[in-house]
Amino acid sequence: MDKAIAPDFASGVAVDEVPDGGMIQGKVGGEQVLLARRGAEFFAVGAKCTHYGGPLAKGLMVADEVRCPLHHACFSLRTGAVLRPPALDPIPCWRVERIGARVFVREKLPAPGGAAAVSASGSHPASVVIVGGGGAGLTAADTLRREGYDGPLTILSADDSPPCDRPNLSKDYLAGAAPDEWMPLRPPDYYSDRRIELALNTRVTSLDVRQKRVETENGRSYEFDRLLLATGAEPVRLPVPGAHSQVFYLRTYADGRALAARAASAKQVVVVGGSFIGLEVAASLRKRGVAVHVVARERLPLERVMGPEVGGFIRDLHESHGVVFHLQDTVTRLEGRAAVLQSGATIETDFLVQGVGVRPLVILAEEAGLRVDRGVVVNEYLETSVPGIFAAGDIARWPDVRSNELVRIEHWVVAERQGQVAARNILGRRERFDAVPFFWTRQFGVSIKYVGHAPQWDAIELSGSLQAKDCAVTYKRAGRALAVATISRDLESLRAEAAMEANVQ
Ligand SMILES: Cc1cc2nc3c(=O)[nH]c(=O)nc-3n(C[C@H](O)[C@H](O)[C@H](O)COP(=O)(O)OP(=O)(O)OC[C@H]3O[C@@H](n4cnc5c(N)ncnc54)[C@H](O)[C@@H]3O)c2cc1C
Ligand code: FES
Repeated sequence: MDKAIAPDFASGVAVDEVPDGGMIQGKVGGEQVLLARRGAEFFAVGAKCTHYGGPLAKGLMVADEVRCPLHHACFSLRTGAVLRPPALDPIPCWRVERIGARVFVREKLPAPGGAAAVSASGSHPASVVIVGGGGAGLTAADTLRREGYDGPLTILSADDSPPCDRPNLSKDYLAGAAPDEWMPLRPPDYYSDRRIELALNTRVTSLDVRQKRVETENGRSYEFDRLLLATGAEPVRLPVPGAHSQVFYLRTYADGRALAARAASAKQVVVVGGSFIGLEVAASLRKRGVAVHVVARERLPLERVMGPEVGGFIRDLHESHGVVFHLQDTVTRLEGRAAVLQSGATIETDFLVQGVGVRPLVILAEEAGLRVDRGVVVNEYLETSVPGIFAAGDIARWPDVRSNELVRIEHWVVAERQGQVAARNILGRRERFDAVPFFWTRQFGVSIKYVGHAPQWDAIELSGSLQAKDCAVTYKRAGRALAVATISRDLESLRAEAAMEANVQ
């Protein structure tokens, strides 16, 4: 809505101007405010998502929640609390008063006070240790403190930096458009203020489930009452004969810094891999003016996950920005500055970036005797085969309530939401993890949002036009929509997510 004509909610608006089940944007003082209505109830909350400032007025209201159109964060309209990441902080709330046929937004309400008490039905662990300082680990620690857990809380992370906005590493950060200040998920004093001990450069090397203790590479041991394993995944490293220091991977912030620094002086680069990370890296390097060749085994980029139509669209999009594809091919070796492909072609390159998938880091769980099956197997409460030990994020394989199958999904938002649910279950809440998977990717300004999970499908339905960058692609099996990918249809993506939520077995 145009700020110039945004209604001033302090002066009141007619009740009928706010549709039942809908929201309008206006202002109070200098702040943009969202006024939402559910029957006779009205709610006034901040209009901007606390993740990356998404416009909540363009999002979806579901019962007494509002969902952000950009990356599907979900907030309570009653309290402003974040119900689901990727946002981590609440939105502000205002008091609303109805007088006759008009609604007035009054003073801002104090932020929900500190920690809620751990509920009587919950438990208060003597100590909690989280192994992993990524999306799942940070969200779990954050949730534990928000939910009122005030006991010892430790995050052990092999990374050299505090939890960071990993998805940004291949996007704006690599393109040089996001400063370093954007990257930490939380400022340094966040951890000390909340008495979260964050041990960096601390790789856990063993887990003793009987003694309830983990040991680290640097010789320390930590005892725990409850443990969360959130070790994520590591990039697959294909051997490249002839390569010395010219192969880059992208997982950690340190990887991101090294790659961005090297890209600053590069002229031409070969990216190995035609899936999300490889393609986002290609797009970000092009933004820096680097010539990019993508070498991938696939017939079309992203075809395995999104089908041939989207794959063809992505190839054309990249080609229109100067990316050169070498599909159904691979790099066999480096000869000096030349990458030699299986097809016999050679490409001059300053360095290689490998983005050929990741492997979940399950070794700790495996060696400790936890049930592992291509991931750490957990129940619907994200608890592993050993009571009191939970797993979340890229390593977790959990029973999906929609397909009744065990699934493991490598999405940022899934990891964060699992961290949140695991934390509540560490406190004894018995909350089932049933969020609909969601991810997004952005390449050359085109954002694709994907909700659901469709490892296989027997039909793809396209509505709208990929060429016009305005469409929804539905992946179906046996007539049932398993996943929906959208471009420029954020509301449709949110509606598809809400419909899938309702469709629980
Ligand atoms: C460049 C990039 C871009 C991405 N973009 C997107 C995107 O756009 N959308 C999307 O949905 N997903 C995206 N992803 C995927 C997403 O980032 C992951 O799904 C998510 O980070 C998983 O979170 P996690 O907490 O499970 O693991 P991670 O975030 O990987 O964190 C794992 C943590 O565990 C630590 N660790 C590992 N082993 C040990 C050990 N033995 N001891 C101590 N610590 C250990 C690591 O150091 C790290 O701190 C992207 C990933 C990358 C790398
Ligand atoms: S900006 Fe709202 S979820 Fe990302």
